[in-house]
Amino acid sequence: MRIFFSRLLICTVLLFLPLPGFAAEQQPPPGAAIASAHYLATAAGHEILARGGNAFDAAIAVSSTLAVVEPISSGLGGGGFFLLHDAQTGNDIFLDARETSPIAATKEKYLTADGELDRDRATNGAWAAGIPGLPAALVHLATQHGRLPLSESLAPAIRTARDGFPVYERLVKGYSSRQAVMERYPGTRAVFLSSGKPLQTGDIFRQPDLAATLEQLAAKGFDGFYKGDVANKLVAGVNAQGGQWTAAELAAYRVKIRSPLRFRYHNWDIVTAPPPSSGGIALAQILQILEPYKLQDMDETRRVHLIVEAMRRAYRDRTFYPGDPDFVKVPVKLLTAPDYAAGLRSGIHPEKATPSTALSGQPTPLEDEETTHFSVMDGEGNLVAATQTVNLLYGSGLIAPGTGVLLNNEMDDFALRPGTPNAFGVMGYEANAPQPGKRMLSSMSPTFMISNQKTAILGTPGGSRIITMVLLGILGFDNGLGAQDVAALPRYHHQWLPDVIDTEPEALSQDAVMALRKMGHAVTVPAENKDGAASSHSWGNLQTILWNRAAGTLEAGSDPRHDAGKGTVILKSDKQ
Ligand code: GLY
Repeated sequence: MRIFFSRLLICTVLLFLPLPGFAAEQQPPPGAAIASAHYLATAAGHEILARGGNAFDAAIAVSSTLAVVEPISSGLGGGGFFLLHDAQTGNDIFLDARETSPIAATKEKYLTADGELDRDRATNGAWAAGIPGLPAALVHLATQHGRLPLSESLAPAIRTARDGFPVYERLVKGYSSRQAVMERYPGTRAVFLSSGKPLQTGDIFRQPDLAATLEQLAAKGFDGFYKGDVANKLVAGVNAQGGQWTAAELAAYRVKIRSPLRFRYHNWDIVTAPPPSSGGIALAQILQILEPYKLQDMDETRRVHLIVEAMRRAYRDRTFYPGDPDFVKVPVKLLTAPDYAAGLRSGIHPEKATPSTALSGQPTPLEDEETTHFSVMDGEGNLVAATQTVNLLYGSGLIAPGTGVLLNNEMDDFALRPGTPNAFGVMGYEANAPQPGKRMLSSMSPTFMISNQKTAILGTPGGSRIITMVLLGILGFDNGLGAQDVAALPRYHHQWLPDVIDTEPEALSQDAVMALRKMGHAVTVPAENKDGAASSHSWGNLQTILWNRAAGTLEAGSDPRHDAGKGTVILKSDKQ
């Protein structure tokens, strides 16, 4: 086996020799590929593949290792969506491990005495946390799709939690922005201040309690987290901070298996996230609005105008219609119908911005480090696109003592007060109101794209911007770009309200910005900010894989915006 690698291993491709005697479209991939936000997670996935695991076992290793090395973004105390393709059966499966609302968390609990949204309660501590879903997803993957025992696929994460890993800048910066909240809680202080002071870049971060919790999960499966000792500690830790969790509702958590949302765009079958994600519906709407336009042949201004107008219309619908399909009737068929898209398209003025119905002075907050995405393809053609999260930076900030489990603050993704924007500046109404056991609306959009020549996997963190980043990625692949170019694409975003096109530095030319403004668009250009914040005004962390079945090539792309994403490593093997 020949292996080439550089210092950081974020996305990797293992290449095998093609099998003789098969047509290109019947050939299995020329290797295996993993793209994730951290080199240790990518390495964990490959370790499991090398032990005979399939993509689903590798996904357990990547997911659980991200839970250890990227606590700022996701973890056992959070949830996620796993889009799976089983090469043997040809089935696509959407594994919904979204958190659920605790029984006691009625919407009145999130209002102040004068009826305003209690933002502290919505985002910090015990009331901010939904019942976690990620551990149940790992168990489901192992028992229903994997080839190895869960204990083997969790071994790299357990090792990394126990032995530690070098702290990197993102964790330190994120901690300082959440320090005051995290240091409220004794369980969190015990983990993050174990040496008496906050972690610094280069320190080795060991999490023995988290290793022990992972060991319980490895040994006992679902019951190792949702019942018994770990569950009792989670309930005690939440309730000691004024929350009202019960052992019974933890034990009652279940993942949901859903049919992915599918639609056509040009020559691609797009397979993506159904409710309780808002992503698939919005992507279907935007891309079907854009379908007849020859975007590649247009000048930049006209192309961006049309894409933004499509974004605006999809995000308006996101505000009112989607929610947990087990609780509300989401009109998925209608919203994703080509005729409905045609109606939306007909309202687009070719040369004028459509004003959103009301202006909000709130800028869309950036979500750089929260949430994480990884993509996996094994040598048999099994695919995983997974986006997992604890919501905002370090979630609720609350670690239940003795568990090492940092709980999410996903309750803020509900419309806790109708019409009041959440931390991402998006709002909602009844369809996304909290109810016991309900899943909060998400933007997470793990996606596959399949044409008769290519298969791509993509996804990213980014709060309400996830959908527009995946959209631009789909347009990039449709335009013939490779995986790394798609991960690096400059980004712009519109979400109906606030009525503004937000742009990364140099995402649009100055001429296009001026022309768009003349058409009536408000455009935020970072270089124009007084505080000189241009360089930090970028978002997302897109991880993608492209298998060109016609050419027999495999690529992985890792977002270059992050320290841990700068080193793309390619492993090549001419023998497995
Ligand atoms: N917590 C971000 C999302 O699910 O959209």
